[in-house]
Amino acid sequence: MPAILLAVTGTDPQPWAEALQALAPQRDIRLWPDRLGESADVAYLCAWHAPRGLFARLPRLQAIFSLGAGVEHILVDPELPDVPVVRNVEPDLIVRMTEYVVLHVLLHHRRQRLYGIQQRERVWHEHAQPVASAVAVGVMGLGELGAAAAVALARLGFRVAGFSRTPKTLAGIECFHGEPGLEAFLRRTEILVCLLPVTPATQGLLDLKLLRKLKRDGASGGAYLINAARGALQVEADILAALDEGSLAGATLDVFAREPLPPASPLWRHPKVTITPHNAATSDPRAFAANVLRQIERFESGLPFEHVVDRARGY
Ligand code: NAP
Ligand code: GLV
Repeated sequence: MPAILLAVTGTDPQPWAEALQALAPQRDIRLWPDRLGESADVAYLCAWHAPRGLFARLPRLQAIFSLGAGVEHILVDPELPDVPVVRNVEPDLIVRMTEYVVLHVLLHHRRQRLYGIQQRERVWHEHAQPVASAVAVGVMGLGELGAAAAVALARLGFRVAGFSRTPKTLAGIECFHGEPGLEAFLRRTEILVCLLPVTPATQGLLDLKLLRKLKRDGASGGAYLINAARGALQVEADILAALDEGSLAGATLDVFAREPLPPASPLWRHPKVTITPHNAATSDPRAFAANVLRQIERFESGLPFEHVVDRARGY
C-alpha cells in the first residue's frame, strides 16, 4: 500500500503520526527523518515547513498535504514537483479562526484592554460603548476562513464588508474586490481583519500607507488591525508607526515576520498591541488526519482532491 510520509519542523510530529495511524491502522505511515524507509514507496506527503529539497527526493509522490490552510511554506521550495498541493480546509479549523476573529474584534470593540488596565489600578469607570451596528468591520480575504468570520461578525450586528481578489456575493456582507475596490473598502473600515494568503501580490500589503486609509472618525473612535493570516503581509515598523501617530488605536497580531517573535521586538511591550503565538487557528491533528484520509480515499477511487492550490495564483 502506498505510504504516507509526515515531514514536519517547528512542531512535534508525533500527535499527527498517531492521529493518522489511529484513523487508518492499515496504512503505512512514515515519519521524516528517522522513519522514512524506502522513499520510492511514499505516495503522499503531509508537510509543515518540511526541509528544502525533500519533495524532489520522493520519486512516486502523488500529492502534498499542508498541515495548515496556508501553503507558502510548500510553494517556496524551488524543487517542488508537479503534484497537487492540498490545503487543510475543514470545519474544525474554520470554527477556531472564527472564534479568534470574533474574540479580538470584541476585545477592541468592548475596550477590554482598557478595562484590564483599570482593573489592575482598581479603577471603576465606564466608557461610552458604541453599538455593534454602528461599527464598520472589514475582512480582507473572503476565502474559507474570511467568509466564515465575516458572517459570524455580521450575525453579531457589525456592519461588515469583505475584500477579495475576484467579485463575491455574500448575504449581509458588503463585498469589494481587486485593486479598484481596496481604497473604498479601507476608507469605510474601522476594524480591519486580515485573512489573506501570502502571495507576491499581498506581501507587505499592511503598510503605513494602507493603515492611514482606515476610518478613524467612526463610532469606534479609532482604527484597529487584526492580522491572523501571515507575518509577511505586514510591515512591523509601519504598524508601530501607525500606532504611535494614531492612525491605529490598537492591533492584535497573531503572526510575525520572524516566529517566535524575538524578545527584543518593541511589539511585545507596546501598550496598544495584543500578541498571540500564531495560534489563531491551529490545525487539530485528528481533524487534519480525517480530512487527509478522506482526500486520499477520494483520489484512490478516481475523484480529484479538494482544495488544491492554484500555483499561478499562489494560494
Ligand atoms: P482561501 O480560502 O484561499 O482564501 C483566500 C482569500 O484571499 C480569497 O477570498 C482570495 O480572493 C483572497 N485574496 C487572495 N489574494 C488576494 C489579493 N491579491 N487581493 C485581494 N484578495 C485576495 O484561504 P483561507 O483558507 O481563508 O486562509 C487564508 C490564510 O489564513 C491562509 O493563507 C493562511 O496564511 C492564514 N491562516 C492563518 C492561521 C493562523 O493560525 N494564524 C490559520 C489558518 C490560516 P478570491 O476569493 O477572489 O480568490
Ligand atoms: C496556520 O497558520 C495555517 O496556515 O493553517
